[in-house]
This record gives sequence, C-alpha cells and structure tokens, in this order.
Amino acid sequence: MTPGGRRGAVRRVAAFGRPVRGWFVLAALAGALALGSGLGLVAASAWLISRAAQHPPILFLLVAIVGVRAFGLARGVARYAERLLSHGGAFGVLRELRIAVWQRLERIAPAGLPAYRSGDLLARLVADVDAQQDLFLRVLLPSAVGALVGAGAIGLLAWLLPPAALVLLVGLLAATVAVPWLAGRTGRRAERRVAPVRGTLSAAVVELLRSLPDLVGCGAADRRSARVAALDRELVRAETSSAGAAGLSTGLATLAGGLTVCGALVVGVAAVRGGALGGVALAVVVLTPLAAFEAMGTLPQIAQHTERVRRSADRVVDVLDRPDPVREPPEPEPLPDAPYTLRLHRLRAAWPGVRAPALDGVDLELRPGRRVAIVGPSGSGKSTLVAVLLRFLDPTGGRVTLNDTDVTVLAGDDVRQVVKLCAQDAHLFDTTIGENILLARRTATPEELDAALATARLLTWVRELPDGLATCVGEHGSRISGGQRQRIALSRALLADPPVLLLDEPAEHLDTATADTLTADLLAATAGRTTLLVTHRLAMLGAVDEVVVLDGGRVVQRGTHGDMLTVPGPYRRMWDLERWADRGPGSAHRAD
Ligand SMILES: Nc1ncnc2c1ncn2[C@@H]1O[C@H](COP(=O)(O)OP(=O)(O)O)[C@@H](O)[C@H]1O
Ligand SMILES: [Mg+2]
Repeated sequence: MTPGGRRGAVRRVAAFGRPVRGWFVLAALAGALALGSGLGLVAASAWLISRAAQHPPILFLLVAIVGVRAFGLARGVARYAERLLSHGGAFGVLRELRIAVWQRLERIAPAGLPAYRSGDLLARLVADVDAQQDLFLRVLLPSAVGALVGAGAIGLLAWLLPPAALVLLVGLLAATVAVPWLAGRTGRRAERRVAPVRGTLSAAVVELLRSLPDLVGCGAADRRSARVAALDRELVRAETSSAGAAGLSTGLATLAGGLTVCGALVVGVAAVRGGALGGVALAVVVLTPLAAFEAMGTLPQIAQHTERVRRSADRVVDVLDRPDPVREPPEPEPLPDAPYTLRLHRLRAAWPGVRAPALDGVDLELRPGRRVAIVGPSGSGKSTLVAVLLRFLDPTGGRVTLNDTDVTVLAGDDVRQVVKLCAQDAHLFDTTIGENILLARRTATPEELDAALATARLLTWVRELPDGLATCVGEHGSRISGGQRQRIALSRALLADPPVLLLDEPAEHLDTATADTLTADLLAATAGRTTLLVTHRLAMLGAVDEVVVLDGGRVVQRGTHGDMLTVPGPYRRMWDLERWADRGPGSAHRAD
C-alpha cells in the first residue's frame, strides 16, 4: 500500500538505467552463472562423495572431479564479472542521475531554491541519489538472478524427483514473497522515515555550523545542538527498527531454508525407500535446496530496500520535477547588437507561491551610458527587479525589452552575457583574491586585472599584502573585511565588463563611512557605463541620471536627486531621515 506517485518516481529513476541496460543483463547472466556454478559445485560434490563411498574405479569419478573444479573456478570468475558489470552500470546511472539533479538545480536557482533548506538539498543530491544504487544492486539484479537460479534448481529437482521440486518451490516462495511481505509490514514505517529525517538532520547540522558564532554569542548553542541530537536519535531509531526488520527477515528466510532442506530429505528418503530415486541422487536432492537458498542472498530484505529506494527516489524526483521559475524559449532568438537599451514596461512580477506581486506596474528605461538608482525601503521589490532583469524570474505582466526585443524570447544565458550583477552578498570562494576576481574572465591579462583592482580602489591594499593577489580570503571571505569583500566583488564585476551592470546594495552591510566611500568609488568607476544601482543610501545619488523610488512594488516617485529634494515627498522624507541618522550621537559622519 503505497501512495500512487511513488511508483512513478522509482520508474523515473529506473529509466536512467536504460542506456546501460546491456550491462545489467550481462550482470544478471554472470550472477546466474555464478550461483548456478555454486549449485553445480554442491550437486557435483554431493554426487562425488556419495558415489566415492561406493568405491568405484577412479575412472567413474573423473568427470565429476573435473566438474567440481570447473564449477569452482567458474563461480569465482562469474561472481567477479557480475560485480564489475553491475557496479559499473549502477555507478553510470548514479552519475547520470546526479548530473540531471544538478542541472535541474542550476535551472531553478536561485528563485526556486528557497523551497529547500541547503543541508536537505545536499542530502538529496548526495545521499538520496546514492540510495538509488540499491534499486539496481539490491532489488532488480538479485530478483533477476534469484528467479533464474530458482527456476534452474526447481527444474533440476523436477527432473530428479518432482515432489522435492514442489517442496523447494514452496520454500522459495515463503522466503522471497511471504517473508519480505511480513518484514515489510514491520519495517516499512521506519524505512519511510529514514530519508526525510536524514535530510532534516543534514539541514540542521549545516545550519548549526553556519550559525555557531551567533549561537554561542547568545547562549543558544546548547539548545540547538540538543535539537540536532534529538534528530540524530530519531534517525538511529528509524535505522534500528529497519535493521531489526532486516534481521527478522534474514532469520525467517534461513528458517525457511532449513525447513525446505528437511522437507526435501523427507520426500527424498521416501523416494529412495520406494525405489523411485537412487541413493546417490538423494544427496543431490537434499543439497540443491541448500545451494538455491544461498542464491537468494539479499532477497528477503528486498522489501526494505524497495521502500528506502522509493522514499529517496521521491525526494530526487521532487527536485527533478520542480517547475521552472523562468520559461526558457524552445528556440531562442539571437541577441540584438550592442549598444543596449533595457526597458521595463508596466512590469509585474511575483515570486513562486506568493500571491501578492513583488513588483506592480514598474516602468524604467536604461539607455546606453545612463545610470539609474533604485531606492526604497527594505522589501519594496528592489532585488526582485534585479532578479527579473537577470532572467531569474519571469514577469507575470508587462514586458522587459532589450533593444525592443522581449527578453522572454532570448536565452537566459544570453541575457546574462549583457546584464551582470554585483550582488549585495556576492559570494567569495575560499581561494585567493586573484582567483576570485578572475572568475569573471579567465582570459584577462595582468594589466586588465590591475585596472579592475585600481578602479575598485583595491590595488594599493593588494600590493601591500605579503602574498598580494595570492592571499587567501577564507570561506565566504571571512579573513578580510566587509568593505574589501564588496570591493573584490566589484572588481570582479568590472573585469567582466558587462554592457549593463547591476549593483544590488553593494554597500549594504558596511558602516556608513565605509559605505559612502565605497559608493563614491563605484560611482566614479561606473561613469559612462550603463548601470542600475540599488541602494538604500541617498547620500551620493547626485551623480546618477535618475533616481526611482519604489515602495510596495510600485514606483512612488522618480526624478533627479536634486529635483526631488526640492519637493516634499517620499524621497525628501527618506533624505531627512538619513541626515538625521547621520548626525545622531552614534555617528560623527557627515551625510554629503
Ligand atoms: N526568493 C523569494 N521567494 C519569495 N518571496 C520573495 C523572495 N525574494 C523576495 N521575496 C519577497 O518579495 C518582496 C520584495 O523583496 P525584495 O525584492 O527582496 O525587496 P528589497 O530588495 O527591496 O528589500 C518581499 O515581500 C519579499 O518577501
Ligand atoms: Mg534587496
């Protein structure tokens, strides 16, 4: 009893195995050969021992002796081939699956990603994808091999002694159908919990590590780690009951095996008494079921593996099926030629799952060489505007055009060749300053790199560092100051040299003095470059061509800094507030 959608998820994952289907077929044959050889080895040795007990001339035994050797060798070789082929195939499937999940993440990022916690996403990408190998290695392959070998063993017994074949059939059905069903009933609930709890635990650990300084600072670290410990205990409980069910099924299957051997012995002895079976063949009849049960190996646990695979497949397919926040045109138009004018006409945009629009009827024109600033309180839609311009989010109404071409007919990557972002929390990689900047353009010459550093006013600082450009910035740039981080991000954006540069609150987390120097420097650096500057500081905005004031996703005022200061209105109010805050006791800094 499993809800409908899940079966589909497993089938979707299984479809990834189609290109390597041949590998699995060969692996199943090799596996059957290995187990068949095992069976042959036992049957031949049984015959050999029984026949040898009658002291026949050695010549009568030679064929069986050769058979025992051949089966022994074949078993090892075939087992090796089976492992090689099946794991080669399964890892091939995992690779394809992981690439598919990654590509999906790339498409839905960044607008679609907040649906997941980052640790949970990592668990989906790593653990849940890994869990899918069990579908091939522990469910499909052993079932195929078990079916082949089981049929072979029953066939052999049916030829020697039909009642013994019947006993074996009943025993095998008990071990491979009844036992998994029983174990599945006890272990299924636990199995279902494993993958989601692992995801939650992983998310909690990542969050704990990330926020450790804050947690220690406010004395909440113990409470938080207690929560992680509780999740860990829950995972252990789920794994333990699942292991219990697995142990139960292995035990029951072994019991079924023992009973089957006893049953075969009883019917075999009766047949020998009745003269229907030779004494030598009796050993074969008794030992064949033993070998057949060995062949069933992991089959009794198939219910657990299936449940676990199903749950993880569900979580993987959930990522694969997440709707696109942005529709890519099936056949994108070519990019128009430079210079570029970017226009917004009555733009409306909403985030997935949020009813209220984040932008509502915004008009904007960014002509070549012009600089426009967007200001407004937090949550007014400034970053949403940036996301739409970068094609991370589709408009729900109105249009965005690049030289009169609607951007929805262009490929997102092409648009991002023209429009580039220097984000408010630009990511710095845990590597050198040079590597972090060269990310924008690997082919840049040292002179171009120096020029970008100079414009971002970093050159002197970098030259004074003992390691210069080879200085490591630490994880998320933790070894350098906030101002330097933003300046590195700015040099990266400048080195990329985009036709249209977007700057989203480049000075956000900096103190007022540093923020104003940085803003002044970047305004100097972007003179004559098509730029959209998102900011909440008004102090420097005399330098830009137009300032647009957003509130609640709507444009509430627009004009030049100078003009808007002369009239009462939202801009003037924001300005007065900023001046008042700057003059306040906490700051000796002048506003302009
Ligand atoms: N990824 C997101 N998913 C859902 N809602 C979002 C997302 N980003 C922003 N929002 C919402 O959109 C509105 C505008 O946010 P945003 O554009 O980030 O404002 P600003 O940059 O002006 O502070 C807010 O109500 C915010 O909660
Ligand atoms: Mg923002």
